[in-house]
Amino acid sequence: MKSSGVYYESFGCQMNAFDTEVIASIMAEEGYREVSSPDEADIIIVNTCSVREHAERRALGRLNDLSRHRDALLVVCGCMAQRMGKRLFELVPSLAIVAGTDTYDRLPKILAAARESGEQIALLDRDDTVTYAMRRIEHTGPCSRYLSITRGCANYCTYCIVPYLRGEVRSKDPSNVVATVQKMTASGTREVTLLGQNVMAYRFGDTDFPSLLGRVLNETGILRLRFLTSHPRDLTDRIFHLMADDERLCPHIHLPVQAGSNRILGLMGRGYSREHYIDIVARAREIVPGLAVTTDIIVGFPTETDAEFRETIDLVERVGFDAAFTFKYSPREGTAAAGMKDDVGPEEKRRRLRILNETIENARRDTLSEQLGTETEILLDGRVQKGEYEFWKGRTPHFRNVLVNGKRHEVGDIVPVRLKSMLNFTFIGEEPIRR
Ligand code: 5AD
Ligand code: SF4
Repeated sequence: MKSSGVYYESFGCQMNAFDTEVIASIMAEEGYREVSSPDEADIIIVNTCSVREHAERRALGRLNDLSRHRDALLVVCGCMAQRMGKRLFELVPSLAIVAGTDTYDRLPKILAAARESGEQIALLDRDDTVTYAMRRIEHTGPCSRYLSITRGCANYCTYCIVPYLRGEVRSKDPSNVVATVQKMTASGTREVTLLGQNVMAYRFGDTDFPSLLGRVLNETGILRLRFLTSHPRDLTDRIFHLMADDERLCPHIHLPVQAGSNRILGLMGRGYSREHYIDIVARAREIVPGLAVTTDIIVGFPTETDAEFRETIDLVERVGFDAAFTFKYSPREGTAAAGMKDDVGPEEKRRRLRILNETIENARRDTLSEQLGTETEILLDGRVQKGEYEFWKGRTPHFRNVLVNGKRHEVGDIVPVRLKSMLNFTFIGEEPIRR
């Protein structure tokens, strides 16, 4: 079993992507190798998402697809594993292991047991103390990495399944966060994104989220620091003062608004009004001029009228988002909203989503084109081919995509660019000529 090849695949949010890295680090410590295709794998581990029915359908399709690799042991973990448990053995008969979100430390042992007994094993116990530290950081790491600082969520937004699958909020020891960022920096990482369902809920003893940011900035050599996701109800000005004072804390915030109508926000249990949302973004931009804001929006929440949907459109037009992730409401069994009638029909949800996406595209185009001609810096994360030309690609501090010509660079370089034009929503930049 040892030195067996493991292939990983991750669905869902960035936190799931981080969990997959944690699983890989647990497996690596036990001597398992990572392989880059299912064909080479002795073990296939799929980390799944349950946030919408669509996410689960995709994961199930993929699992059935991967069942073709008969010689490999197929493992499913993550939110869908936690939610569906043993039912997954009926839906995907060739599954060997179903591992819930708090069980990853035990995976190597379970794998050995499954291989030995040939029996299907489901491990679903919940443990609200698990926080998962990275076991080890390789000597040379990627230029940009994620690091979870909390697990779980206690908001109980009425549409959301997450608190039921990932449990109460627990926060990592700040000394561990600082030490991990230091190790990542030493391995060549330039940018770290701190992750939590709601990073604003971070608390360890006296350390709250702004204090944690302060410690990471003061005690590590990281060049760029980001964080995801922020709940509008819990946001304080301290975060923005930190951004204004230290340019390593990138001027971008992912702030899901979810809806633009106060009645719907109330039904969602979000704890803020549209006015409050618009106001905090305005205040934040007074402290951090040009702050980039991205968001998540749900259309077709139970009882949402067309007039209320229009309030979402109005909010989008007012705020000036850099980008937005948009979703059709999907009832999730066991949540409070699942008890309400899902009365906005599929056709109407589709229509609202289409209108919303068009509005967002137009608003994005306006927001981004204001940047044309300005100078900024990008962190290079790779090369891409566009037609006959090859470009470097990178992100600005505001998390905007830029392509730039130039051969002399390396991944991880931070280079100055002037934003020259836009191709869809990606900027084409050029290196300014300094005299
Ligand atoms: N239906 C549709 N979208 C949802 N989200 C969470 N739960 C649901 C649901 N039941 C969206 C929210 C959240 C994002 C991660 O997914 O917008 O911010
Ligand atoms: Fe999906 Fe939510 Fe789980 Fe992330 S935490 S994988 S978004 S269900």
